[in-house]
Amino acid sequence: MSVVRRMDRVVDDFASRCRWFREPMTKGRARTFVMQHRLNTRQRNSVLKLKVATNCPDWETRMRIIGACSEEVIADHAHGGGRPHWQILEELGVRIGMRRAGIQKARPLPSTELCWAAWEGLMANRHWLEGIVANTCAERVNVPGYGRGEFRKRGWFGLERRRWGKLFRLQDDDLEFFELHTEADIEHSNTGWRAVEKFARALGMEDAVVAACERNLHVWEHYLNGIAAAGDDGGR
Ligand SMILES: [Fe+2]
Ligand SMILES: [Fe+2]
Repeated sequence: MSVVRRMDRVVDDFASRCRWFREPMTKGRARTFVMQHRLNTRQRNSVLKLKVATNCPDWETRMRIIGACSEEVIADHAHGGGRPHWQILEELGVRIGMRRAGIQKARPLPSTELCWAAWEGLMANRHWLEGIVANTCAERVNVPGYGRGEFRKRGWFGLERRRWGKLFRLQDDDLEFFELHTEADIEHSNTGWRAVEKFARALGMEDAVVAACERNLHVWEHYLNGIAAAGDDGGR
């Protein structure tokens, strides 16, 4: 089996087992997601992923990492009308009835902080090819084809789009955060998957990148479970 197929299997496993995807969305979970994910996206794309870029000797790949980070935290002209993704998420929060000041004042949950520390270990002082898997393996679930049912058909954010639309009675335009990610994250995660395809065998790192994919997605599972638990507990 090719190394990319093996990573796809790991992603499929994550998509199938993670409670966040299988359990119903609730208002508490959605609100907590807005607060935590805004912070998480900023941390990952302004700190963690850039450490991977720094370690990457392949110029093309390095530029693509920085380009993707820039769309997430500075401005996405291709899919986001010039706004960064965290800001579009903030706007979604306002549309579901949250106060902007409250979103902006949110602090990371202990579970989120634990994940940042874990990712630091998996991204900063690692071979860049393991790092690029860390950068992109969770974006991969926004690409249709993993998990089952609706998740498989529309990807994670396609599923969220429908769940949030129904729960908060939102129109299509209000749900652009989820919409834009299907396109953006196909591109972002392709950067990682292509780098693995191109370099893993030559570098003798096929097993290492599959293991990196597994470990990083376990951290993502912890991150989402932490949001679910806090959301069920009143959003604290
Ligand atoms: Fe994004
Ligand atoms: Fe992305």
